[in-house]
Amino acid sequence: MSNVATADFTNHKYQGFSLAPSAQSKRLLELRFDEKVVSDFLAACAEWPVQALEYKSFLRFRVGQILNDLCGQALQPLLINTLVDRNTGGLLITPEGLNQVEQAEDMVKFTTAVAHLFGRSNFDAMSGQYYARFVVQNQDTSDSYLRQAHRVMELHNDGTFVEQDTDYVLMLKIDEKNMEGGNSLLLHLDDWEHLEQFYADPMARRVMRWAAPPSKNTTKDVYHAVFDTDRGGQPIMSYIDQFVQPKDYDEGVWLADLSEALETSAKKVSVPVPMGSFLVINNHFWLHGRDKFVAHEGLRRELMRQRGYFTHAKTLKNPQQV
Ligand SMILES: [Fe+2]
Repeated sequence: MSNVATADFTNHKYQGFSLAPSAQSKRLLELRFDEKVVSDFLAACAEWPVQALEYKSFLRFRVGQILNDLCGQALQPLLINTLVDRNTGGLLITPEGLNQVEQAEDMVKFTTAVAHLFGRSNFDAMSGQYYARFVVQNQDTSDSYLRQAHRVMELHNDGTFVEQDTDYVLMLKIDEKNMEGGNSLLLHLDDWEHLEQFYADPMARRVMRWAAPPSKNTTKDVYHAVFDTDRGGQPIMSYIDQFVQPKDYDEGVWLADLSEALETSAKKVSVPVPMGSFLVINNHFWLHGRDKFVAHEGLRRELMRQRGYFTHAKTLKNPQQV
């Protein structure tokens, strides 16, 4: 889609929500739900605790339908279009009035509704559910950087070491206490200064081995290249520094160069995500990471993630076509 089509969707007031470019990047759109729609949605879904959504997969789509109906059916096409649009492909979403840790269950319901308007969230092996909640604290004994507070989590794609399609990543901030730093870091592939150089290298298409540590609960290695080409002929990536296992010197040195070229990019955007807000990104052409936090004994952050595949294969041109 062209920039013109993208611009048509933004700076509009829709029924129940508004959409505008974010302060950090014109590619990342900010979608805000009115408090009334949020409270009406929660009232309409009050009969189903999150456990009901866990047990009955189809209810995740029903809550999506309820939210879309409250927005006059304009929400679903907008989400589908934005997430497959190469020019944007990313949203920072804020449901007004849903921002206290006591509302964590309602936050899970709301994010589930949004995700199931454009996709289906995969089984998350870390939690055994279609979503995973996890806590980052000052002390950590885990075996990956996911829960380590005092260092940058480098830019990466999700789903690199699983066989499921991971078209989108949804990241919700449930709680935050004594936090300084820790912004989400994002990089759109088309903004990256070194994309052409690395994509053109034969090593970009070298099939490599990917293996995760025990906490991820995946035992099988996965094999794929770092780069691929999507149906539109555009470069896409499936990369994470911690879990790629180079087999020799050439692969190792190339991966180290790639990592440096990503981490030193001046095009990274640093996005503060308030409590109750969530990011949804196209996982193929947006990389994500997390900035480090300042140490504090009472530091606590709770997050929820959902990853999954898009259920609408074709790109829709505008909301009226649905
Ligand atoms: Fe991630």
